[in-house]
Amino acid sequence: MNAQSETWKFWSNQTYASSCPSYCVGHADGTPAEPGSSIWCASLLESARDRLSGPFVILDWGCGDGRLLDFMTRRFKEFEYYGIERPGEHGSSRIVQARASFASDPRAKFDVYDTPLEKEAVGRAGIVVMGSVATHIPIPMFEILLSRILPVLERGGVLISSFFIRDRYAFQNGTCYGHDDCYRWVSYTQEQVDGICQKMGLSAEQKELFDAGPGCIHQILRFQKKQ
Ligand SMILES: C[S@@+](CC[C@H](N)C(=O)[O-])C[C@H]1O[C@@H](n2cnc3c(N)ncnc32)[C@H](O)[C@@H]1O
Repeated sequence: MNAQSETWKFWSNQTYASSCPSYCVGHADGTPAEPGSSIWCASLLESARDRLSGPFVILDWGCGDGRLLDFMTRRFKEFEYYGIERPGEHGSSRIVQARASFASDPRAKFDVYDTPLEKEAVGRAGIVVMGSVATHIPIPMFEILLSRILPVLERGGVLISSFFIRDRYAFQNGTCYGHDDCYRWVSYTQEQVDGICQKMGLSAEQKELFDAGPGCIHQILRFQKKQ
């Protein structure tokens, strides 16, 4: 999706005020400039648009400071949102900031994982979004995250995740977000994604592309349990 896309015409409409009107995405979370930040959120949600009518429960895994929630509050009323981050200094600081920004919104809950909130979220969500999380982690870590959210898919839910799918499995610069096993970027191959799906009994379909700058095109895939 880009500013010229037909689908952006739909998403560019804002119906409500944000529950954090002063929200401004920070540089810690990438793609900060508008309209890019909103087109990014729209590209993720467009990939699950059929699941967004009526009340819905969404789990934003790797939520940063709640950018997706801000975008959603401007467009939807009846939803519940869980924002989950990786435990550690960076993840905890994102959660503190997100809680402060959206303190007035009872629809939103934030925490790191390995907490009761992770369990509650996985037990209730019908949609999981991982926006630019798999683009920072190696495949074994992505598979661990998939097994954590698998109950959502087993109930018929969907996972929307962005990737850099390239011709080789490659990593650049470790210790991103304060973790040795997190990288500035990671690319997977299509064969590797197919292998993950086969192992976990999933299907994956590319729904959207998002161009975050030179050499930085995200492929946005939708995963579901194979029928
Ligand atoms: C590029 S930021 C994207 C943030 C947010 N999804 C957005 O679109 O604004 C990547 C985020 O993924 C988080 N992250 C990295 N590894 C993670 C993991 N294993 N579990 C949960 N979050 C993770 C980082 O802490 C960081 O906040």
